[in-house]
Amino acid sequence: MQIQQALSAACSALGLERLDAQLLLLHALGRPQNDRAWLLAHDSDALDADAEMRYINLTRRRAAGTPLAYLTGQREFYGLTLKVDARVLDPRPDTETLVDWALEHLDARGSVLDLGTGSGAIALALKSQRPQARVEAVDTSADALAVARANAQRLGLDVAFRQGHWLQGTQGQYALIVSNPPYIAEDDPHLEKLGHEPRVALSSGVDGLDAIRTIIARAPAHLQGGGWLLLEHGWEQAEAVRALLTQAGFVQVQSRRDLAGIERCSGGQWQPA
Ligand SMILES: C[S@@+](CC[C@H](N)C(=O)[O-])C[C@H]1O[C@@H](n2cnc3c(N)ncnc32)[C@H](O)[C@@H]1O
Repeated sequence: MQIQQALSAACSALGLERLDAQLLLLHALGRPQNDRAWLLAHDSDALDADAEMRYINLTRRRAAGTPLAYLTGQREFYGLTLKVDARVLDPRPDTETLVDWALEHLDARGSVLDLGTGSGAIALALKSQRPQARVEAVDTSADALAVARANAQRLGLDVAFRQGHWLQGTQGQYALIVSNPPYIAEDDPHLEKLGHEPRVALSSGVDGLDAIRTIIARAPAHLQGGGWLLLEHGWEQAEAVRALLTQAGFVQVQSRRDLAGIERCSGGQWQPA
């Protein structure tokens, strides 16, 4: 089968998006993900039998809903190439909004704690931009921490990872606490579509806000005066999260929109009386 035929079959017969079909073919061929121009230049080349089998297998799994990043084993996030697999949430481009906001509040030698770090995406992006800052990260999942630590080592970024339940057992005080916690309601029908990703990374209580409530309640004890708590949340949760922050005594409570214009992150400043 020629390259062009293989791509067309994946799109027409399996319904894949062309970009996904191209990236999977590059992966099956062992070529870099940024080599799409090579596919165009070689569209009449024949695939060898092994590559064709690998491609068929990958495209079938993608059509069945496996995230592209799990199939290629990598995800670009804030200019970093992260290795990801089914042990962690596939980092979303929307989360770069939280990183942008966090950088506004993280001084060169500041301190930040990332709660629910998963692949390490947020903590590693912050460390890459603020190499002198003290960056720590927590996750409840030992599997996720193994992925995050391997990413940090490969990227040469010094982040202190530890296993824990949100802020329980945390001793330090930070200029900034950030989190993209699980925030989908337990009975949300969308969870079915996300069945390839770890459940612990996705859902949190009947209204999806359990983790956010816990973090907001515990963060003040670990924020320096004037420090910020910044949280990612669901597209319809901004108002509820702002209310929780205000009730807890945070000031300057506000939200930020993602690239699609949706209020996707909310946060506030802690000013002890
Ligand atoms: C939505 S994922 C975010 C992963 C990563 N920060 C990102 O943005 O791609 C939520 C993460 O919170 C972690 N988590 C869930 N419950 C937790 C808890 N009680 N304490 C700490 N981490 C928790 C999950 O293991 C998962 O890695």
